[in-house]
Amino acid sequence: MAKVSFTCSACGATHKKWAGKCESCGAWNTIIEESALSAGPGKKTLGAARGHRITLSDLSAKDAPLRRDLSGISEFDRVLGGGLVPASAILVGGDPGIGKSTLLLQAAAAFARRGLKSLYVSGEEAASQIRMRANRLGLRDAPVLLAAETNLRDIMTTLDAERPQFAIIDSIQTMWADHVDSAPGSVSQVRAAAHELTSFAKRRGISVVLVGHVTKEGQIAGPRVVEHMVDTVLYFEGERGHQFRILRAVKNRFGPADEIGVFEMTGGGLDQVTNPSALFLSEREKPTPGSVVFAGIEGTRPLLVEIQALVAPSPLATPRRTVVGWDGGRLAMILAVLEARCGVSFAGLDVYLNIAGGMRISEPAADLAVAAALLSARQDKPLAADCVIFGEISLSGALRPIAQANARLKEAKKLGFCAAISPASIKSVPSDGFAINKLSDLGEFVVNTFGDIEA
Ligand code: TYD
Ligand code: MG
Repeated sequence: MAKVSFTCSACGATHKKWAGKCESCGAWNTIIEESALSAGPGKKTLGAARGHRITLSDLSAKDAPLRRDLSGISEFDRVLGGGLVPASAILVGGDPGIGKSTLLLQAAAAFARRGLKSLYVSGEEAASQIRMRANRLGLRDAPVLLAAETNLRDIMTTLDAERPQFAIIDSIQTMWADHVDSAPGSVSQVRAAAHELTSFAKRRGISVVLVGHVTKEGQIAGPRVVEHMVDTVLYFEGERGHQFRILRAVKNRFGPADEIGVFEMTGGGLDQVTNPSALFLSEREKPTPGSVVFAGIEGTRPLLVEIQALVAPSPLATPRRTVVGWDGGRLAMILAVLEARCGVSFAGLDVYLNIAGGMRISEPAADLAVAAALLSARQDKPLAADCVIFGEISLSGALRPIAQANARLKEAKKLGFCAAISPASIKSVPSDGFAINKLSDLGEFVVNTFGDIEA
């Protein structure tokens, strides 16, 4: 009887038996039955046979500096950590239809025009479809080599013969490695194909990009299965119906993680947005209750985003807490601190929190801006439109210092703001015409801004 195993298609963890929920990552309905990987040498122990002696070196040994190839699409180069490192393996994940193929075709064309040999393999579209897209993007003349293929063995043979510097595999879920006995898109296939491609690319000095669809259903394996095999993991995010797209580095062996690149999807492909703060604030009109500008940092770049809150009497026994673009647990914490330390209760009120422009933030520095938005919405009182807010809130209600305050203030000033509310402990030099209101706890902010609030 063939051996079977139960693997989570979201995180790749294996389980002894089927279950509705993966204990390892907490996802539901992602565990699928697969025939186990063919018994390789792993069946025997390594013990008996001797291997080769490996070369050891000193920490002080000199290496050649990393070469970086620039595509010229600066938002893309930035997210890679300052350009493409030769022989690196990159995963680009994202929802279907978000624009991964478009982005990578544009990147391949940009590299090709700068003299890097680029190859684009699609397992999803016919070559004619890709040419049609290239035409629409105005990239018809870029010397990119194109193939529509899913057989991994043939693809690797071709890569070996062509030796491109930049190769795109779109997508890893459509690839079929014939030495693995399960369907394309299954965890074993995705894992084997990614392993073959990344180790092959390293040996041959080819930079590969693996495109991975994020899937909610357990039918095909998600990109998390391959995250640990590659050097760099980028996620392409955005809201349907919104034209903004954010390319975010969540792991990067060659640069800072959390770096973001901002793009706009247009009729002619993705345009880069070099001043994202202006873009995220562009939809702001006159001062509105519940709207606050947060001066954040994404990767190495300051970014101003609008935080919107709506508070309304709830007909429900358990009022609604809805969050888009921020962490729901963190919102609950801020509400609890407001209640326990400042005596402002949200009981009986529905709370909606939204980060404008489809942006997603995870910085605790947004705490104070969120609290400000909630209070402003609850009191129906707009805050000054020319003021940015940042600061982390501790459970005691104290405002904790945050990193890179100066970069945040500079960005705010550059975009025409002339005041800030921040934790007291930041070390910043106030410049002319820019007022910094430094506070040491949340209660002080509540009283200064809203006076006495009835519970
Ligand atoms: P695509 O790159 O195919 O997404 P993915 O590879 O992530 O599945 O992009 C698909 C969407 O992008 C599609 O709905 C149409 C839109 N699009 C544009 O708006 N403008 C363009 O120039 C292109 C090529 C696509
Ligand atoms: Mg695609």
